[in-house]
Amino acid sequence: MSEVATAMSSNTEAVSTTPSRMAFGSTSRPDRWWLEPLAVALGLLAFIVYSTWAAFQGEYYEWGPYLSPFYSPLILTHWWPLSPALLILWVPAGFRLTCYYYRKAYYRSLFATPAACSVRCRPQHYHGEQGLLWFQNLHRYFLYLALVLVVILWIDAIRSYIFPTGFGIGVGSIVLTLNAYLLMGFTFGCNSLRHLVGGNVNCFSREPLGKQRYKLWQWVTKFNEHHMQWAWVSLFWVGFSDLYVRLVAMGIITDVRFI
Ligand code: FES
Repeated sequence: MSEVATAMSSNTEAVSTTPSRMAFGSTSRPDRWWLEPLAVALGLLAFIVYSTWAAFQGEYYEWGPYLSPFYSPLILTHWWPLSPALLILWVPAGFRLTCYYYRKAYYRSLFATPAACSVRCRPQHYHGEQGLLWFQNLHRYFLYLALVLVVILWIDAIRSYIFPTGFGIGVGSIVLTLNAYLLMGFTFGCNSLRHLVGGNVNCFSREPLGKQRYKLWQWVTKFNEHHMQWAWVSLFWVGFSDLYVRLVAMGIITDVRFI
């Protein structure tokens, strides 16, 4: 072997072996980098535990004109003996699980791959989104279903103002309206939707309906710029909406009526 080849080979060896000697979690970052992944992990785990518990309850999901978003659309049928939420929740769960922001969040906070920038991750063999991770490619299809759910949640929000005695506004009406709005904001900021309306375009003015697509793309981009914030606020609020309806239905709290 020539001198140059030998030098190159030993250099390559040095480059490829040095990082593996670093311990998991080691970093030269002086800041409290672990705070964010820890907070994200706690937030995600709290939501997963509560939503799983609520989904399996199968009761106290509606009161008057209010319907918990975990159970919407409500499908009651004799061939499904379990909670009706289980027929629905796979759509928003799949949508969030495959969301590009949430992937970053849980890859970092729950699987530490890596936990943060410049922090040594677990030894692993990353092959892209293949094998078990193949389902991540289904995101755009979950988006189509999530868009339908947004319409249904707005219908629920409007229905929450129609009491047996006629039109009214209760705290629950406001809670469910905010829920529909926040889930709409999260869904409209989806990267797949942004690609759908503005992707594969080199020049909007030369495309059919280019002006309209450009306007739509700008509109989706506004939501997309704060996708992480929409993701968290809508996650918290959808859980809170279920809890509110549940507590009212159980008689633990009373819904306050403004009108
Ligand atoms: Fe987050 Fe599509 S990228 S919902």
